[in-house]
Amino acid sequence: MDQFKSKLAGHRIQNSPKIQKLISELVEAVRGEERELVSIRAPQAEAMDHGKHMFDDVAKYRGRPLQYQFVGTGAGHGAYVEVEDGSVKLDLINGIGVHIFGHGHAKIREAAVRGALSDIVMQGGLEPNHEYMKLSKLLVEHASKRSRLKYVWFATCGSMANENALKIARQKNSPAKLVIAMKNAFAGRSTMMAEVTDNPAYKEGLPEYNEVLRIPWYDSSKKTSSADSLRAFKEIVSANPGQVATFIFEPMLGEGGYRTAPRDFFVPILEFCREQKIAVWADEVQTFMRTGELFAFETLCIGEYIDICTIAKTLQTAATLYTEDYNPRPGLIAGTFAGSSASLAAGMAAVEMISGEGYLGDSGKIRKTHRAFIKMLNDLNETSCKGLLRDAGGMGLMIAVTPLDGSKDKVNKLLQVLFKNGMIAFSCGRDPYRLRFLLPAILEQKDIDLAGKILETSILEMMQ
Ligand SMILES: Cc1ncc(COP(=O)(O)O)c(C=O)c1O
Repeated sequence: MDQFKSKLAGHRIQNSPKIQKLISELVEAVRGEERELVSIRAPQAEAMDHGKHMFDDVAKYRGRPLQYQFVGTGAGHGAYVEVEDGSVKLDLINGIGVHIFGHGHAKIREAAVRGALSDIVMQGGLEPNHEYMKLSKLLVEHASKRSRLKYVWFATCGSMANENALKIARQKNSPAKLVIAMKNAFAGRSTMMAEVTDNPAYKEGLPEYNEVLRIPWYDSSKKTSSADSLRAFKEIVSANPGQVATFIFEPMLGEGGYRTAPRDFFVPILEFCREQKIAVWADEVQTFMRTGELFAFETLCIGEYIDICTIAKTLQTAATLYTEDYNPRPGLIAGTFAGSSASLAAGMAAVEMISGEGYLGDSGKIRKTHRAFIKMLNDLNETSCKGLLRDAGGMGLMIAVTPLDGSKDKVNKLLQVLFKNGMIAFSCGRDPYRLRFLLPAILEQKDIDLAGKILETSILEMMQ
């Protein structure tokens, strides 16, 4: 076999020590240029005009200004990213949860460069290259350890992976077409995913298709919360017999406010779905790789119930995983793109690193970072920012806190002040609006300390 391999040009490229050395040297040279990006830096006087032009041009050509004065230079190091105005920011949002290993990580970059050396830029389902096959195998092997998930189909964004999931559920359970989702759910930006999403601001002017019904998310302050949601679920099903195709849920409410729920909240609902043959669909677009296990359904120990699972973001592309029972008939799901060769290769490196380099489990790096970050927030809330950073929580590398009075205006203002002071975060939830962090897995204690300092300065600045 090995002899045969050396006859294939592609295998010679993959195994060539000379090419490997060139890639390593290239990545090392680039990293060398990024050496200084190890902390925050204010905008640089000589770069500010240039930066402003770039920020303004984004607004000019897309018809809407940037949320932040941010266009990256393409250089970054760990949790720090360089901006075209010469500033360096502590990036705690990472493209909304995409760059799980932060910026300029050597192994991710090497993988992406290797992928980029492929004969093709984009891969798809018709003529995939080996990265497609290897990533499929890796994902299915991991997913099937603690669930019945057996197959995977790639897409290029979470919304499209979700569209595929919905089609799979509806085909199998046809003619049932209704969807049960959570209040405050977020599922993406396609027409149907905007319908699943429970935020009027994201679908202004769109028609209602009336295909989504909702149950309340877990409320830890209400003793009857789990029973209330189960009852609401059962009421929907009995009012629509044979009509409910699927139940979609985020293992932790994401855009809806970073609210967690215990296993006991989910299990009775999932048992009922199983009994009623309603497809259980975990939308792990945001939670994948972040909760201390590879899948949040593992963190919650609910893998046995999952029929369909969607992932994206940290994967560097997107995918729908499903069981044997839900394997759709040919023709239902396809699509030109599965991802770029670079993104498939980098996604594979990310999965391998998260699952094999000490990040998972209770004593793994993800949960340690979670505890340290929450501690920093709680310490501030009890000392210099007393009562101004409440309710810190989340799962793993997804953390939110309610700042100030939790109003939209104040939180948006705070985000801009944080940005000015060197840190990038985002918001989630409504009433209250929360400050959201999608932390990189490589965050160090010194970065958490710096985040604490910037937060403290910014909150106090807001109080002046
Ligand atoms: C839970 C969830 N589902 C779906 C999506 C949509 O993913 P994408 O933006 O890649 O289409 C998101 C994006 O934030 C998400 O958080």
